[in-house]
Order: sequence, then structure tokens, then C-alpha cells
Amino acid sequence: MPTMRAVQVSRPGGPLELVERPVPDPGAGSVRIKVQACGICHSDAMTKEGHWPGIEYPRVPGHEVIGVIDAVGRDVPARWQPGQRVGVGWHAWHCGSCDTCRRGDFFACQTGVQVTGISFDGGYADFAVAPAAALAVVPEELASPDAAPLMCAGVTTFNALRNSGARPGDLVAVLGIGGLGHLGVQYAARMGFRTAAIARGTDKEPLARQLGATQYIDSKATDPAAELVKLGGAKVVLATVTDGPAMAATVGGLAPHGRLMVLGAAGPMEVSPIPLIMGRRAIEGWYSGTSIDSQDTLAFSVQAGVRSMNEAYTLEKAAEAYDRMLSGKARFRVVLTTGN
Ligand SMILES: NC(=O)c1ccc[n+]([C@@H]2O[C@H](COP(=O)([O-])OP(=O)(O)OC[C@H]3O[C@@H](n4cnc5c(N)ncnc54)[C@H](OP(=O)(O)O)[C@@H]3O)[C@@H](O)[C@H]2O)c1
Ligand SMILES: [Zn+2]
Repeated sequence: MPTMRAVQVSRPGGPLELVERPVPDPGAGSVRIKVQACGICHSDAMTKEGHWPGIEYPRVPGHEVIGVIDAVGRDVPARWQPGQRVGVGWHAWHCGSCDTCRRGDFFACQTGVQVTGISFDGGYADFAVAPAAALAVVPEELASPDAAPLMCAGVTTFNALRNSGARPGDLVAVLGIGGLGHLGVQYAARMGFRTAAIARGTDKEPLARQLGATQYIDSKATDPAAELVKLGGAKVVLATVTDGPAMAATVGGLAPHGRLMVLGAAGPMEVSPIPLIMGRRAIEGWYSGTSIDSQDTLAFSVQAGVRSMNEAYTLEKAAEAYDRMLSGKARFRVVLTTGN
């Protein structure tokens, strides 16, 4: 039986281990992808630490997968063929027909939500099997390591911004300049928003400005809400930080009808209702998007010249690469490459 390299977690909180595993076969409705690159997202901590309910271990993380289809299972639409380069993101399959899905609460689907790298193995491996419904076509112009982070960090920020209600010329602030945030700044600037970057310290200021931010707010040295008010108030704050209080600290900087879009999976935050009431401000959560949203993200990135800034690591160094992501020192996305 042919084998492959894979990096797996064997128990909640356990290490990332490089192992040999049989190459998986695609079941009905799925394809097998020869993985070329896979980004490391902060949400991979859900697999690593077992924060998502009901994960079956061992599990291979990774939901920013780019590679080439090398086998096609039964009942896969004919548009998916071996040799095509495709991407797979945080694909959250849900049944769409149970009572909770019909109410729009997909993550409570009674059949069980299926998420890449959480409920089935992801892209920290030479091969990954993915549902055909999760596939996005990758444009020729994008190298695989450049495309990988766009499958989660990219689509999440792009899709949140294009659904945020902000219009060209509005002030949009991106809170947290990491994997998601550095792409959020680029998308916001390319969509025509007056773009402010908010991060702690001054370290990230030059890069944030290079990526398109015209304003930079150091949340350690100043009150970010007061700084946003000085700029006229933000129509949208795109919150990519992993910290609830840091999100709450920006609410006072929203313009009337402004919206805090919560992307970061953070702990609780405490917000006074008064600024929400007086000015009809809103707080809204957002999660990534569909495979078509991913294709839109890839196409827009080519058209507008948005690129992820990456630090590449080989698959063997996945544990080191993951720690680098957690350290907050990566500029800005850590990407595993397989050499395939
Ligand atoms: N909603 C979705 O669909 C979705 C999709 C992908 C990811 N996520 C979530 O989004 C979050 C970000 O993911 P990521 O991959 O971008 O992580 P990341 O690369 O680790 O970036 C997180 C950034 O947040 C910054 N940060 C943390 N606490 C902060 C604070 N108190 N003030 C200012 N900045 C702070 C960190 O800055 P420092 O360098 O200063 O530490 C870091 O740059 C994670 O919670 C992830 O699980 C959600
Ligand atoms: Zn992610």
C-alpha cells in the first residue's frame, strides 16, 4: 500500500507529529489532492488543542490547502478532473435541511458539520481527500504558496469586507495585523476604503502602510476608539484579534451605523449597550465563505495585486512552523510546502 508523509495530532493538546500513513482513497463525491502548499491558520489551534467538539484523533490539521487533483471518486461532477490545480478552505459542510439548518444556524446542524482539518483530515500532508463541493479553481497567475492563505485568511477578510456595508471612501479599520489582518488591510485598501490598521506597538506600522493602510493606530500607546473618532469614526472595524477586550475597546470608535465585524475566535468581551443604541451601531460575527466565495477571492487578488506575505516551512518542520504562527512574530502567514 503506498504511503505518504502526514503531520497529525494524536490527542487534544498533543504535539504535531510527522508520521507515515497510507495514501487515502477518495470516497463518493470526493477527490484526492496531491498537496503542494498549506497555510497555517490560528484556527488550526482548534484541532491541536481540541477546542472543537467531537474531534476524532488522530487528526491532520490544515484548511488552506492548494494542490493538484490526482484521483476522482464516484459521483463527482465532470468539471473536476485529474491534473487541475484546486484549493480547499474551511469548508463547513452542513445538511441544509434539518431544523437548525433551516433556521440558518448551520454550525448546529443536527447531522453534524464537516470542517476541513477538523472533522476530516486536512492539508498538513502529501495527500488530502476533500469533497468536490469544497473545491475552488486556482488561477494560473498565483503560485501555490501564495494562493494557500487566500483559502481561509483571504476569503474570510475579503468576504466580510464585501458584505460589510462599507462603501468606497468610508473609513474601515482592521484590528490585528496577523495572517488575516495583513490581507484585510490589502483588501480594504483595494476596495477603495480609507484604511486604518490597529496593532499593538509600532513594529508593524511600516509593513501595514506598505500594504495600503493610510492610518496606523498603536493600541498600546493610544486609545484606539478615541483615535478612530478623531478620524471621523469607522464604518467598519474588522476584528481579527484573538482577544475579546481588544475588540470591545474599538466599539466607541464606530461611526453611527458602524459595525464591528468579529472574525477572531476570542474569549468573551464586555460592551456597553449605550453606544450601540445611540447611533444604531452593530456587532456581527462572520465566518469565511463558500468555495465560490474562495474563487472570487482568488480572482480579486489577481486583479488587484493582493498577495499574502509568507514565511515558508517544509512539511517536516510543521511543529516549528505552528509555533512560529502562535508567537505572533511571523510576517505574516506561515505556509507549509511539500515539494510535490
Ligand atoms: N471568522 C472566521 O471565519 C475565521 C477564519 C480564520 C481565522 N479566524 C480566527 O481569526 C483569528 C486570527 O487568525 P490569524 O490566523 O490571523 O491569527 P494570527 O496570524 O495569529 O494573527 C492574530 C493577530 O492578532 C493580534 N493580536 C492578538 N491580541 C491582540 C491585542 N490584544 N491587540 C492587538 N492585536 C492583537 C496578534 O498580534 P501580536 O503580534 O501583537 O500578538 C496577531 O497579529 C483567530 O482567532 C482565528 O481562529 C476566524
Ligand atoms: Zn482558518
